[in-house]
Amino acid sequence: TTNTDYYRPVYHHTPLYGWMNDANGLVYKDGEYHLYFQYNPYGSKWGNMHWGHSVSKDLIHWNHLKPAIARDTLGHIFSGSTVVDKNNSAGYGKDAIIAFYTSASDEHGQIQCMAYSNDNGRTYTKYEKNPILTPFDGLKDFRDPKVFWYEPAQKWYMIVSADKEMRFYSSSNLKDWEYQSGFGKGYGVQPNQFECPDFIQLPVDGDKNKMKWVMIVNINPGCMFGGSATEYFVGDFDGKEFKCDTKPEVTKWLDYGKDHYATVCFSNTGDRVIAVSWMSNWQYANATPIRQYRGANALPRELSLYTKDGQIYMAANAVKETEALRKDTRKVDNFAVKGEYKIDEIVPQTDGAYELEMDVTPGKAQVAGFELLNDKGEKMKIYLDMKAGKVVADRTESGIVDLTRYGEVTVHEKETDDHRKTMSINYKNDFALGTWAPLSLCEGKTYHLNIFVDKCSVEIFVDGGRIAMTNLVFPTKPYNTLRFYGEGADYKVENMNIYKLGL
Ligand code: FRU
Repeated sequence: TTNTDYYRPVYHHTPLYGWMNDANGLVYKDGEYHLYFQYNPYGSKWGNMHWGHSVSKDLIHWNHLKPAIARDTLGHIFSGSTVVDKNNSAGYGKDAIIAFYTSASDEHGQIQCMAYSNDNGRTYTKYEKNPILTPFDGLKDFRDPKVFWYEPAQKWYMIVSADKEMRFYSSSNLKDWEYQSGFGKGYGVQPNQFECPDFIQLPVDGDKNKMKWVMIVNINPGCMFGGSATEYFVGDFDGKEFKCDTKPEVTKWLDYGKDHYATVCFSNTGDRVIAVSWMSNWQYANATPIRQYRGANALPRELSLYTKDGQIYMAANAVKETEALRKDTRKVDNFAVKGEYKIDEIVPQTDGAYELEMDVTPGKAQVAGFELLNDKGEKMKIYLDMKAGKVVADRTESGIVDLTRYGEVTVHEKETDDHRKTMSINYKNDFALGTWAPLSLCEGKTYHLNIFVDKCSVEIFVDGGRIAMTNLVFPTKPYNTLRFYGEGADYKVENMNIYKLGL
């Protein structure tokens, strides 16, 4: 393909043209990962929703296929999931891929529909008796069905986001669904609207005798930095109800950046739980300075549970497959930052696609960090603020930061004000800000950083994904200088590698 868009990522999945939001119907089958997605083939803003389709053998190299499910008389094809029908529960053949999505229109509202594929997910036939599920109480916001097999009951379950909660249903034939329970009213940050559920089971600290259920809830608005983001709840499930371990007000974020939404996981991947999110935020998703297409997925992430201070958290680390992107390695000798330390031309003639890896030991320093800089003075600041106990990614001066001239930017005043109060760093508008995560999630002393830069995104992983932070940036030239700086005392940077990344 010819690349007409300056900001098109090198190694992140994007549609060739048109608009993309949520990842949909993620499934692994016969050596292929299927990535369907909310897709407008007719323009680079939201509308005319279809399921677009890409496939990959390794989660990194994607082939673009034709849209798999097209808009019809029931309305838009909104988000949803797919399963491999191992026992032929639905009667379309063993191992058919069955898709569940929301049809959305003013006329019919939001209703759950089904379609099946007998050609490994290339084409789908819609079930002739759609819809398979409508809200029992006439709810307006009732969408994004996630279907999974629940072994103890030998049944399929569906979770549907229903305004401010998630509703569980169960079924034997994937067509008739029986309501079980609702979860989530009053849980997590407020104000909110629940969207795009997922429900996964994972061992705690790798111990298979200690399994926990995790409900992934994408919410919009309500994110701690404004707009949309992914939170999760850890607990137990008995086939009827989900019981969360923590109090309603406890919010755990899967990613602490501002551009990480609609996270859902692949089905049929065995013990691995691999999540994919959309790398944007509803506040300005339609206004990014890109023309030919809009929307990219964050790097696929492997999810796992770890314990910290008696609490269970979910780590999200870039999948190990991303190591195959490393084209050139530059090893940097260990150094101490005494005030300032600069590395120029971090990647020769960079196209803006690289990974930085390092161990940072702040010691007695109060601030330990660096700027990713270009020669226009645009910079992304990434630093550990040891006094505040935060890792911060500050894009206030990262390049183009006023998106209002590219399209409509939705601001939710209340959440923005609340947010401003919690920030100790600069805040110009809903794009020009910093995001931060609590360092208390890490074990401390030395912090291992993997930072993926790809044209218009910076994804930070601390200590194997205990903290993940994903943010868009629009520098007018690639950042190619690293300026380390510190406050309070010298600190150490060790085991640093700079990888040029490419497909
Ligand atoms: C989340 C979402 C979903 C919906 C889809 C529509 O980003 O709002 O709830 O199904 O996008 O495109």
